[in-house]
Amino acid sequence: MLNILLVGSGGREHAMAWKIKQSEKVDKLFIAPGNAGTADVGENIAVSVSDFEGLKKVVLEKSINLVVVGPEVPLVDGLHDFFLDDEELKDVKVVGPQKEGATLEGSKDFAKDFMDRHNIPTAKYKTVTPETLGEGIEFLKTMKAPYVLKADGLAAGKGVLIIEDLEEAEASLKIMLDGQFGEASSKVVIEEFLSGVELSVFAITDGKDYKILPEAKDYKRIGEGDTGLNTGGMGAISPVPFANAEYMKKIEDRIIKPTVDGLQKDDIPYNGFIFFGLIDVDGDPYVIEYNVRMGDPETEAVMLRIKSDFVDLLEAAANGTMSEQSIEIDERTAVTVMLVSGGYPGTYENGKTMTGFDKVENSILFHAGTKQESNKVVTAGGRVIAISSYGSSMKEALKQSYANAEKIEFDGRYFRKDLGFDL
Ligand code: AMP
Ligand code: GLY
Repeated sequence: MLNILLVGSGGREHAMAWKIKQSEKVDKLFIAPGNAGTADVGENIAVSVSDFEGLKKVVLEKSINLVVVGPEVPLVDGLHDFFLDDEELKDVKVVGPQKEGATLEGSKDFAKDFMDRHNIPTAKYKTVTPETLGEGIEFLKTMKAPYVLKADGLAAGKGVLIIEDLEEAEASLKIMLDGQFGEASSKVVIEEFLSGVELSVFAITDGKDYKILPEAKDYKRIGEGDTGLNTGGMGAISPVPFANAEYMKKIEDRIIKPTVDGLQKDDIPYNGFIFFGLIDVDGDPYVIEYNVRMGDPETEAVMLRIKSDFVDLLEAAANGTMSEQSIEIDERTAVTVMLVSGGYPGTYENGKTMTGFDKVENSILFHAGTKQESNKVVTAGGRVIAISSYGSSMKEALKQSYANAEKIEFDGRYFRKDLGFDL
């Protein structure tokens, strides 16, 4: 029996906790710091994802055998390495790459260079620094509009600019290199613009072998018809109709396998998830970005479709036994609809009382930004709660989530009602 510590506090972590808890291998599940939802499936511990010493204390006190890391920041900051370097922690298994592997997400320049080296299809690019600004401007002149500028480092999802006008792109490049996103934009990746439908594909790997998890489509814009500002994600659908077996084989042959093989060739150990942010260009998949974690809100749909024991997969990723694993997928469609706070992704108020939980039927609620306050649940974030449902079709699953979305009430509640419109 395992004692598991899951690190994180979003809808993704609630969905993972829900799935982990279904395994008969689990004795105790702790979530640090968790949210009002994870408290229903495990025990929350008030330690932040960046407090490595605090997490160490939890691991020792609670006799944790397996640590599963939800978000990217602690991985990029070296949480796994911290465990390996500590006498008391070095035998505790961690799911989530070490710092070097996490650089696939932590540095866009590193990721592009990796893809170049291993012939993985991605947009043409050039990386510039303040010293090579002139070369960057020359490169921009060789490209067609729109122009894509990306801060090299982590910028909480805000570091990508897509600009129509060349002069404006040149000016923005200077501003970014001047520290618009702090250290994250001390290098900027200029990319060719690719046009197509995006797709999220996930693998879990021990660094040698991998299993492909159900793919999903994420809806990032706040407004219907994919308009308005980018958000953390307003909902997700799995499976994605155009990602049929033939298309998934292209993705595996051209992207997933070369990525895992590339990690091995480069001697980069990697135990954890790889999230391939893909774009379909006329029937061919290209990598837009790597993430070293699961997607949010994709996880709130993907977890519903994994029939196998998820803990077996987590253990295999940590122990290097992925080749012995198989994965069974639910044929049904799963969707998730995110309820968000009014004003999000701009400013919004927290602390709104939430009601209607008891009226929800035939959906699974995953809390994203909520807090338990004495005897009530209040909002505590822009993305508040994800409503996940199964269906025999996308339409049916969405209908179920939308019906329940109307029942969960809080001041300012908003959700998109057009998910799947493009599929
Ligand atoms: P990223 O943080 O790299 O995922 O970029 C954020 C979003 O910007 C992506 O989800 C895409 O919608 C868009 N994007 C990024 N790179 C490109 C590109 N080369 N061409 C078109 N759109 C892009
Ligand atoms: N849903 C996109 C992400 O998790 O980055």
